[in-house]
Amino acid sequence: TREILIAPSILAADFARLGEQVGAIDAAGADWIHCDVMDGHFVPNISFGADVIKAIRPVTSKIFDVHLMIAPTDSYLEAFAKAGADVITVHAEAGPHLDRSLQAIRTLGRKAGVSLCPATPESAIEYVLDRIDLVLVMTVNPGFGGQSFLESQIEKIGRIRSMIGERPIRLEVDGGITRDNAAAVAAAGADTLVAGSAVFRGSSADYAANIAAIRIAAEA
Ligand code: DX5
Ligand code: ZN
Repeated sequence: TREILIAPSILAADFARLGEQVGAIDAAGADWIHCDVMDGHFVPNISFGADVIKAIRPVTSKIFDVHLMIAPTDSYLEAFAKAGADVITVHAEAGPHLDRSLQAIRTLGRKAGVSLCPATPESAIEYVLDRIDLVLVMTVNPGFGGQSFLESQIEKIGRIRSMIGERPIRLEVDGGITRDNAAAVAAAGADTLVAGSAVFRGSSADYAANIAAIRIAAEA
C-alpha cells in the first residue's frame, strides 16, 4: 500500500492571517502545503504570486506544493523556485512547450509536476513521463475552491496510475476532495490528496480532525 499524503490548499485559508493559518495546518498534520497560483488569464480568477509564497515560507519546513494556473509559465519558474517552492506544477494546457517547462523546473533543482484539466486526456503526459515527479489530475475546472468533484476523472486517475508503472511519480488529485470521495480516488490510484474547503471549512473547526478524516478514508 502506497503512503497517502494530504496537501491542504491555502486558497481556502483566511488571507488576513495567512502565516498563522499555514502554521495551523502544519501543526494539524498536513503533509504538504498546496499553493494555488492563478493569473486571471489561464483561469478566470486571481489568487497570489511568488512574493506571498516567499512570505509564508519561514512558517513551516513542510513541502511547498506550488500549482501554477498561469500562462505563460516559463518566465516565472525561477521566481517560484527562489520563493521556496519544492514542487512546481505546470498545466499541460498552458502552452505548446510542456517538455521545455518541465526541463526548466528540474534545472532549477525543483520537483516537476504536470497538471491536467478535466477535459484533457491522459495521453498529454505520455512523452514526459521520464521528466516528471508528479501528475496532478484536476477533479474540478481550475480557478475556484469549493466546487463539486467531477466523477468523470476517476477513470483518468486509474489510467494514469497504470501509465506511471514503477516510476517514482506521485499521483495527486485536486478539487472537491472530501472524506466522502477520498476512498474512491485512492482506490483509483491517487496517493496525494489536495483539499481546501474540506480542511479549512470542513465539518469540524478542528483542522487536525478534518485532515485525519480525509486520510483515514483514503487509507481504508
Ligand atoms: C482549484 C485549485 C484547488 C482548490 C481546491 O483551481 O487548484 O487547489 O483550491 O479547493 P477545494 O478543495 O475547495 O475544491
Ligand atoms: Zn490546486
